[in-house]
Amino acid sequence: MTKPLPQNKLLEGIFKPWSAESTINDLIVIGEIPRELNGTFFRNGPNPQYVFSDKYHFFGGDGMIHALNFKDGQVSYKNRWVRTNKFNLEREARRSLFAGFREFGKSDPSVQNMRAETANTNIINHGGKLLALQEASLPYEINIDTLETIGVTSYFEALRNSMTAHPKIDPVTGELISYSYINPIETEYIYYYVADKNRNITKCERINIPYLSLLHDFAITKDYVIFPLFPLVMSYQRMFNGEDLYKWEPERGSYFGIIPRNGNNNDVIWIHVPEANCLSIHTVAAYQEGDLIILDTMLADNIPAGANGFTADADSFPNYLTRWIFDLKSQSLLSKTVLDDMAGEFPRIDDRFMGIKYRHVYIAATLHSDWFGYIFDAIVHYDLISNKKQVHDFGAGNMPAEPIFVPRNSTASEGDGFLLTYVYREKEDRSDLVILDALNVDHDPLAIIQIPHRVPFGFHGLWVPLNL
Ligand SMILES: [Fe+2]
Repeated sequence: MTKPLPQNKLLEGIFKPWSAESTINDLIVIGEIPRELNGTFFRNGPNPQYVFSDKYHFFGGDGMIHALNFKDGQVSYKNRWVRTNKFNLEREARRSLFAGFREFGKSDPSVQNMRAETANTNIINHGGKLLALQEASLPYEINIDTLETIGVTSYFEALRNSMTAHPKIDPVTGELISYSYINPIETEYIYYYVADKNRNITKCERINIPYLSLLHDFAITKDYVIFPLFPLVMSYQRMFNGEDLYKWEPERGSYFGIIPRNGNNNDVIWIHVPEANCLSIHTVAAYQEGDLIILDTMLADNIPAGANGFTADADSFPNYLTRWIFDLKSQSLLSKTVLDDMAGEFPRIDDRFMGIKYRHVYIAATLHSDWFGYIFDAIVHYDLISNKKQVHDFGAGNMPAEPIFVPRNSTASEGDGFLLTYVYREKEDRSDLVILDALNVDHDPLAIIQIPHRVPFGFHGLWVPLNL
């Protein structure tokens, strides 16, 4: 018998799972959908089919894909869970079997030695395949039209146990640049690898790291890869002993591993910044200028000593757009600058500028809440050339998510296009998809597409144009 959800803030309101899978034709639209929008907006996020206990954390929720298909001004909706091994076993058992990372060792005996795959974090399109990603396991391939799960993708079979949820796709070469860092028996390394646009692995290098930490995201430039290590240190041994997987160890400082894209472990420049007792979950992007590497991150500074990331439900800290400039010649950090005082997360750029100099950055921001990184109420656009920002304040109780940039067309200049974001309406317990003009973010929305139900808090999304 399925029980009511346990008491847990991450299972209430915007976080409460949605248990139906449906297809809805012709949603109600307020305003007018731009005619240039022809394609599908995919969004992934945690949506537990069953909940193991009140220790639930959304890192462990089963991935559900929400897809909005736009064609000639009409829009339809579809949502499906990713059929991971965990999902299938629990559906068969009709109950939760896998304990989360906050209660290691408590899983049902039938799955004690199995990995709790969720595929809940990101969704990418590479080499003609749609992949649902979560950093602790391999990608799951999804049918781009039906959202049915095809299975663990075989083209990564040569790789290790896991793949980051934040690989980068070089917009010029079509290469996928990626890494693997979760492997409990090899904690002194990460694997850096590259697949060409046809999905053939062209590079796989083992890289020694100063310490293992939450390496959720990284960055690329035209010629380099940057691995930022912040001192939210991971220890499987600690977890096996029944303690926290993550521990905040600020005395270690931060490291930035800069590797030529065609390099290997011998070529890594590790820049140690002992005073950088800070944490970035998401990079914005990076680029080169001469001998300089410019890296933008969303960064939480001033994390209190003793904070243990993710062990408490509301363990969240404000993140600010922060720029790091490294000099490759002197192999040092030249500057670290907080660019704005508005707290936000889920940064995105125009993906056609990934790895090269970009001008426009978009984030989801928190103006009215004190639950940073979890509850957003605004979308912010930064123009890094004119140093102007625009804010779309949705108001308390209206909660946008990651803003996805869609260019007006394939030849549009950077920033000329639209921002797509789900907005949860707390009062109605329902969501809208809101379309903003990306160059006039503070204007009224161009269109609001009404979803008749809640689209729960999610992580990352993707726009796939129709002609791909
Ligand atoms: Fe992420």
